[in-house]
Amino acid sequence: MFITFEGIDGSGKSTQIARTEAWLRGRGYDVLVSREPGGSELGIAIAALLHDPRWSSMRPRTEFLLFSASRAQLVDELVRPHLARRNAIVILDRYDDSSTAYQGGGRKIGIEPVETVNRFATGGLVPDVTFVLDLDWDTSLQRLSREGGAPDRLEQNARTFFDRVREAYHTLCARHPKRMILLDASQPAEVVFGRIQRELEARL
Ligand code: TYD
Repeated sequence: MFITFEGIDGSGKSTQIARTEAWLRGRGYDVLVSREPGGSELGIAIAALLHDPRWSSMRPRTEFLLFSASRAQLVDELVRPHLARRNAIVILDRYDDSSTAYQGGGRKIGIEPVETVNRFATGGLVPDVTFVLDLDWDTSLQRLSREGGAPDRLEQNARTFFDRVREAYHTLCARHPKRMILLDASQPAEVVFGRIQRELEARL
């Protein structure tokens, strides 16, 4: 089973992924957790380019293709080989829906062109289930400011950008209702996790 987690920055993905991983391991599954951008060694090098404040001139299409390049590598190097094992589960912190929401919606490339390139970059590997942690920007900012540190290139986007990202996630959930599950991430973490467990139990 291939599971992905999506949502704007600060929506609580890391917490839910850690819980899901521990729970599935406890049930005897062979679980691989990885993240985008990064995940593979080459992906980490690409991610460094994407985060570097020096590249303020980076164009939306350049950014999208770098994310796609990192994803192509991750799919071939880690995801597909792991899924070929017995009892295997792969959990990814962001996958191609991040590009559709951030580059397609946020950077206004458009949902359709991004989904077309996504199919090429992933070789058509679609998650079995995708959890979208839905949160408004003000709440996520409060959570992020508790983490501290200066914002990097990707975090310096304006609020209107994140509003478009969130809207694109909503559009995507409506387009792919079987695969994508919209979760209200303003609820307590245990409540969100309970829903994740129920959805996974129904599918495993
Ligand atoms: P990072 O700090 O690595 O992850 P996170 O915020 O999830 O902990 O930053 C990833 C950033 O990259 C995040 O702002 C979302 C963005 N992103 C895209 O714009 N497009 C993509 O395809 C992916 C995978 C991420």
